Amino acid sequence: MLVVDCDPQANATAGLGVSPESAQKNMYDVFMSRVEGFPQVKISDIIMSTQAGIDLAPSSLDLVGAEPYLYGIASRAEVLRDALLPLRQTYDFILIDTPPSMGQFVINGLFAADHIIVTLDSGSFALYGVGPLFTIFEDVKQDLGKDLHVDMAIISRWGEGGEISGSEPEIQKTGDLVSWLRSLLAPRHAPTEKEKIAEEERAMEHERLAGMLVEIGKKFPDVHTVPYSPEIYEAQKRGMPISHVAPESSAGCVYKSIADEVMRWT
Ligand SMILES: Nc1ncnc2c1ncn2[C@@H]1O[C@H](COP(=O)(O)OP(=O)(O)OP(=O)(O)O)[C@@H](O)[C@H]1O
Ligand SMILES: [Mg+2]
Repeated sequence: MLVVDCDPQANATAGLGVSPESAQKNMYDVFMSRVEGFPQVKISDIIMSTQAGIDLAPSSLDLVGAEPYLYGIASRAEVLRDALLPLRQTYDFILIDTPPSMGQFVINGLFAADHIIVTLDSGSFALYGVGPLFTIFEDVKQDLGKDLHVDMAIISRWGEGGEISGSEPEIQKTGDLVSWLRSLLAPRHAPTEKEKIAEEERAMEHERLAGMLVEIGKKFPDVHTVPYSPEIYEAQKRGMPISHVAPESSAGCVYKSIADEVMRWT
């Protein structure tokens, strides 16, 4: 498996235990290869193996500097697709991580990918919703003349701070959104004044999250919620995937089932 880090923030690089500053050549050099006057660097020249046994095409903050150059070349959306072409037979899976905001690296990722997984958290959704995201997908489809397979949404840090702890186990166990939504409407026991306020806040948060799930469920064929799990930070610290650090943690179990599903994609 290969991870291609196309985010200048380089979280995927750091998350695999590689210091972004330490990698001599990185995705910056690969993207700049298409700009006149810059050295030819193939993606295979920058790939390194990591302690988790996953290959990595690292990123660094340098990558920010490549974006303005990309606007100057006609085939700017195709750089990553072309760079990965010779490797498609080498790897079973190539995972491309993109920045959180729209730009040339996201467009390159969309153009290169066979499948698209959108990762959200409840905060990001509160700000923008998924509507604008799909407007972008439509624009990209038209500009690139390529159909996009938006196959999955993953909502991470679900129930952070225990706000939705009451409903969380049920949704994890069954994955049945309908029964969870129904449970939100079920009558509750007569509460004290303090409980009432807390309950109101919880109900509002439930409502917001339920609305979020409904909207996301309409847009994506497949939605996964990953429970808030402190083991994620432990994995980050160790520079290893959650599958290697805490496979039995709540997040680890969900990511395992997501991975099983993705492995069935062809
Ligand atoms: N299930 C989880 N439990 C606890 N923390 C999590 C969970 N999922 C993600 N996080 C934390 O939330 C932050 C962002 O997560 P992640 O990298 O998955 O999202 P992202 O959208 O790619 O973020 P970025 O925009 O920073 O690249 C990270 O600091 C990560 O440690
Ligand atoms: Mg990211």
